[in-house]
Amino acid sequence: MSAQPARKLLVLPGDGIGPEVMREVGRVITWLEKNRGLTFEVTEDLVGGASLAEYGVPIRNEVIEKAREADAVLFGSVGDPRWSHVGFDKRPEVAILKLRQELELFANLRPAKVFDALVDASTLKPDVVRGLDIMIVRETVGGIYFGNPRGIETLADGSRRGVNTEVYTTSEIERVARVAFEMARKRSNHVCSVEKCNVMESGLLWKEVVTDLHAREFSDVTLSHMLADNCAMQLVRNPRQFDVIVTGNLFGDILSDLASMLTGSLGMLPSATLGAVQANGKSPALYEPIHGSAPDIAGQGIANPIAQILSFAMLLRYSFDLQEDAQMVEEAVSRVLESGLRTADIMSEGMARVGTSVMGEAIVRELDKLQG
Ligand code: IPM
Ligand code: MG
Repeated sequence: MSAQPARKLLVLPGDGIGPEVMREVGRVITWLEKNRGLTFEVTEDLVGGASLAEYGVPIRNEVIEKAREADAVLFGSVGDPRWSHVGFDKRPEVAILKLRQELELFANLRPAKVFDALVDASTLKPDVVRGLDIMIVRETVGGIYFGNPRGIETLADGSRRGVNTEVYTTSEIERVARVAFEMARKRSNHVCSVEKCNVMESGLLWKEVVTDLHAREFSDVTLSHMLADNCAMQLVRNPRQFDVIVTGNLFGDILSDLASMLTGSLGMLPSATLGAVQANGKSPALYEPIHGSAPDIAGQGIANPIAQILSFAMLLRYSFDLQEDAQMVEEAVSRVLESGLRTADIMSEGMARVGTSVMGEAIVRELDKLQG
């Protein structure tokens, strides 16, 4: 049997609960190496507040270069209240924004899927969320996050003015919409494009470009349009009407947090951010949970590692086409939930409350059983 080449992973645990939940992914990686004949070459580095403390910057250029060379990046979370007063160029959050931008990771896939065992953990009625399976495709290198002009200026009268600009070009809209349409073809074949074309020119262009692309290349997919505020309302009223939602950076940020809570907890949802195929044939990709660094519970061993582990499952699927292994990890998570184990964020009556590492161990034990 010829040895498979090692798959190069850059692991960036970051701040807060990042390192704790990433440790549990380590167990899954070790298990896959032992039991599934896979080899990973794992390099770890600092980002966010952890990097600021050590190097004075949220991310070093060297780390961006390592990310470029890796087959995939597994990211934890960044954000640290100790750095909340520094300038925008120095905040921990710059680490993820710079990685997205430098690697041109423009399509952020944020699935919101409800596990049967967690139907009761949602704040919404079980009937509303049972069987829910939405994919939000969020644009991540454009829009108001990066548009110019931006900044805070002092006016002649001494008062100040803060400015950010929402900008989208035809090609930026097209490439992310294309990802959404292609994704829909593998799912329930419905894309809902979300903007605010009633008040924003960038939203009007968004709608026109998506409509044109649909007519040209994807007329087999059902396309609908929705204003972002209405979409927020519809997501809590009747979330199962959606299949794939495609939207810009800011609306996607907000709507994906909203959608994640339909599933019971922010601690459950993974994401994948994909870029275009590069000249060297590589497709840059970064995987991260939707949740943040949760400084309020960091270091207590109570964080839910599932979103981080499911992000790793997405990595297996999208970067390495290891469908069966990804499926096993997802199935192991599902079985652990069915067995009644719960971290604090998804705890409900009659279930067994466990900490981060017990949850991680339990998932690996389920993998053992699945492997037989
Ligand atoms: C996310 C986060 C980031 C974002 C922050 C940490 C910059 O909220 O990935 O959703 O706003 O994109
Ligand atoms: Mg967010």
